[in-house]
Amino acid sequence: YAAAPEALARLASRVAEAAGDRVLELRRRGVTVAGLKSSAIDMVTEADREAEEMIVAALIAERPDDGLLGEEGAGAEGTSGITWVIDPIDGTTNYFYDIPAYVVSIAATVPDPEWTAEGRRTIAAAVYNPSTRELFTAWEGGGAFVNGEPISVAAREELSTALVGTGFGYTVERKLEQLEAAQRLLPKIRDLRRIGAAAYDLCLVACGRLDAYYERGLNPWDYAAGALIAREAGAGLLGIDEATPPGTPLLCAASPGLVRELRDTITGAAE
Ligand code: IPD
Repeated sequence: YAAAPEALARLASRVAEAAGDRVLELRRRGVTVAGLKSSAIDMVTEADREAEEMIVAALIAERPDDGLLGEEGAGAEGTSGITWVIDPIDGTTNYFYDIPAYVVSIAATVPDPEWTAEGRRTIAAAVYNPSTRELFTAWEGGGAFVNGEPISVAAREELSTALVGTGFGYTVERKLEQLEAAQRLLPKIRDLRRIGAAAYDLCLVACGRLDAYYERGLNPWDYAAGALIAREAGAGLLGIDEATPPGTPLLCAASPGLVRELRDTITGAAE
């Protein structure tokens, strides 16, 4: 590829920080809902759209031959072999309510049928939380960082003392599935968190502030960057590195000693 993963991570970082700072500035002026997506509770704001346009323009100015896949509709094939997978605001509901857990997520991916259902592998990533000014980065084989400091997953091996993050999605079907999983898991863990931004959840696993995270039915822009950051911080990832049972795709991230037990508890295989 025309650039080393480390250089792609630096570009993703720069672009994510600029877009995140803009999104925060727009938040201070108030939020305009621009439309609805998968259901009546799945909002898109003017800021989501503006941030995606800004990210696309910045990436294409530097790398005009790359492909694009953005939550708010950006799409281009590209010819370089690299596709940028973009979530301009992951955690839009938090953004709407001014809860400081929304992030900009940018991943540089390459084709790889083994890695995910979408056939892409992330080689460089940046996730930026503008409210806390935390910039999470990783590139393949290079480790994971927050604001330049190396991070690693918590070494917890016991599910019974694990703090686990999850998300419920936006459709009734997904919520009912998640309820079933939570019912199995909740009695067996320390507690459950629904933070509201999948990319951020994965970064929290990467730096040991959550012991684990799982969710069903994520879109590639929700996890493409965060999954590499978690993996480079030492997490085991089921649903990417290893298939999970058939049905709605399930992503599980945790320390390698915990991740299988987590998956088996959620799916009922441990009963
Ligand atoms: C959503 C968030 C949420 C998760 C949903 C995602 P968005 O992304 O990551 O935590 O539960 O599945 O769609 O819509 O805020 O970009």
